[in-house]
Formats: sequence, structure tokens, C-alpha cells
Amino acid sequence: MDNVVCLDDLEPLARAKLSQMAYDYLAGGAEDEWTLRENRAAFQRIQLLPRVLVNVTKRNLATTVLGTPVSLPVLVAPMAFHGLYHAEGELATARGAASAGTLLVASTASNVTLEQIAAEVDAPKWFQLYVYRDRERTRDLVQRAAAAGYRALCVTVDTPLVGRRERDVRNRFHLPDGLTFANFADAVPEHSSGSALNAYVASLWEPSFSWGDLAWLRSLSPLPLVLKGVLHPEDAGLAVEHGVAGLIVSNHGGRQLDTVPAPITILPRIAEVVDGRAELLLDGGVRRGTDVLKALALGARAVLVGRPVLWGLAVGGAEGVRATLELLRAELALALALAGVTDVHAVPRSLIF
Ligand SMILES: Cc1cc2nc3c(=O)[nH]c(=O)nc-3n(C[C@H](O)[C@H](O)[C@H](O)COP(=O)(O)O)c2cc1C
Repeated sequence: MDNVVCLDDLEPLARAKLSQMAYDYLAGGAEDEWTLRENRAAFQRIQLLPRVLVNVTKRNLATTVLGTPVSLPVLVAPMAFHGLYHAEGELATARGAASAGTLLVASTASNVTLEQIAAEVDAPKWFQLYVYRDRERTRDLVQRAAAAGYRALCVTVDTPLVGRRERDVRNRFHLPDGLTFANFADAVPEHSSGSALNAYVASLWEPSFSWGDLAWLRSLSPLPLVLKGVLHPEDAGLAVEHGVAGLIVSNHGGRQLDTVPAPITILPRIAEVVDGRAELLLDGGVRRGTDVLKALALGARAVLVGRPVLWGLAVGGAEGVRATLELLRAELALALALAGVTDVHAVPRSLIF
């Protein structure tokens, strides 16, 4: 890891360790991957206009998300199947995130159980929920997450079906022997004509889940609800009316509907609608401290980072995850200083040119 200077340095190192199928599942997006590229391009189009002659000797990076303290405004996005990237899978990611003082959002689709992740480190975590057609199964999952001490329920709302990720179709993506959806007994079906993940999701997830079902979901546990995958400002308004505690402005890292805008582009409009009534988070294409700064300036309380964490996991296990987050921390601390800002809670909109 000594020659890793920025997050993008990790990707080729990770790639060299992975099968084509595992690498493509991580790297890919839906269809033409326009949104995948746009997530990066959108951050790069935004220019910062810094202030000078500010005493930046001390900067505060610590904040809270839904009341939980984090040492930097960067969380680990929920991602499926960490076992594809490291033998210790989600357990290593959990240790890495905890050692960097931030939250892991554990995916429904983990290769170890949510209880094992919770037991691995005594640090706050959130649980990401995919809603299953079988209501008892969904209820059970939510109640298990609450019992295991997860602090929030992050429901992914952009995935009634899985987007068409053509790399996975071509590779006939499937879980290698020994890896399962550990939270359940079902196996991912062997599927010879395309991605086995699509077949699993189409057979088990609930594509009819809609606004009217949120009250039921909330009744299952006392956990605050976060909706992940909101892009339309009108949906942000509806989410607030339905009493959600937080929103993650996200296009699932370009893996769902292709040709949608980058979250950072739509964030200002969503911030205007939400107007402080729910906490706003963002993910998609965050690779630099300056990206985090831009998101904060445009109304996010914190961001989540996805793929780079799995690059770090593949390269160095828990230590690699920690190192990935520490690189972002160092870049953000420097960006704050160079922009003349001393606190992540006070990043002015006027920093955006
Ligand atoms: C390999 C992989 C698996 C993912 N699995 C999930 C998942 O299980 N649940 C979910 O809500 N989002 C999932 N996502 C989306 C991430 O939570 C996040 O929205 C996205 O990766 C952020 O973009 P970035 O990778 O550019 O940082 C996954 C993303 C990747 C790359």
C-alpha cells in the first residue's frame, strides 16, 4: 500500500487480485454505463472558489449522522458480497470502517450474517434493507437488525428489479462455491443464460413495494428510516411527508437506471425541497476530498463511498479499508484548509463557483 497515493491508485491493485467476474461486478454499471461515468464527470465539472486569510490551523471533520458520531463525513456504502473481494469479507470491512471511526452500512446481500457483522466490532452500524415479497422474511430481517443493534434502517428504493449490468450478463455472474446470501438459507440460482443475481432478485424481491407500504415498514421496528436511491425532487418531498429521517441521494453507483443524472447534480434541488426536514446524504463517484467538500457545500451532511472501499478490501483486508478512508480523510482535511473552511458543519454554498 506504500505506493498508494490516492483512491484511484487502489483500483488496478485490486483488479490484479480479482477474477474477471468479481472485478466486473464491482466496476460495472448498467447498460452503456453513461451514468457510471457521469458520476465522476459531474464532480469534475464543479469548480471550487476558495476563501483566504482564514485561520485554518484547526479543522473539525467530525460530525453526526442521525445522531451517531462519525470521525469524518464519509460512511461506507452498502455493498453486496464482500466475500468476493477478501476471505474475511464483511467482517474485515466492519473492522476497517470502525478503526477509521465511521459507519458501515451493511447490505442485506452480505456473505456473513448481519449478526456476525454486528458481533465483529462494537461500533455503530446501519442495516441496508432490500424488501422481499415474503413479508414475514422482511419483518424477520428488520427485527433481526434491530435486535443486533443496528442504528438505522436504510431501505434501497431504486432497485425494484436489478438494472441490466451487461458485464454480469456476459460473465454469467454467480456466487462462487462457498459464498451465499448468508442472511437466508436460499441459494442464488445457477443461471446459465445471464446474471444469476437478476434471476434471484426477480424471483424474491418485492417490485410492488411503494409509498403506502412505508408505514408498515416503520411499524416493524423503532429504527429510523433512511431511503437510499432518491433522485427526483418530488420523491424527496414525498419522503419527508412520509416521515423519513434521512435520504441518500444516489443512483446506485450507475448500476440501476442508466442515463440518470449524477447525484451531485441533483443534490441542490433536493436540498431545497427537503429544507432541513431530513438528513441528506449522497453517494456515487466520491473519490476525492474535494468531492466530499462539494457535496457538503451543496447540502449533504455526509457522503458514502462504495467501490474504493472494496478496492481497499481486496488489496489489504481491514487495513486496506482503513487506509482508503484515511486517504479521504487526509484529502478532505487539506481541501478544507485550502478552501478556508474550518468545520465540516460550516461549508458555505459560496464555495461552489
Ligand atoms: C459491488 C457493489 C455492490 C453493491 N451492492 C449494493 C447493495 O447490496 N445494496 C445497496 O443499496 N447498494 C448497493 N450498491 C450501491 C452502493 O451502495 C452505492 O450506491 C454506490 O456504490 C456508490 O457509488 P460509488 O461506488 O461510485 O462510490 C453496490 C455497489 C457496488 C459497487
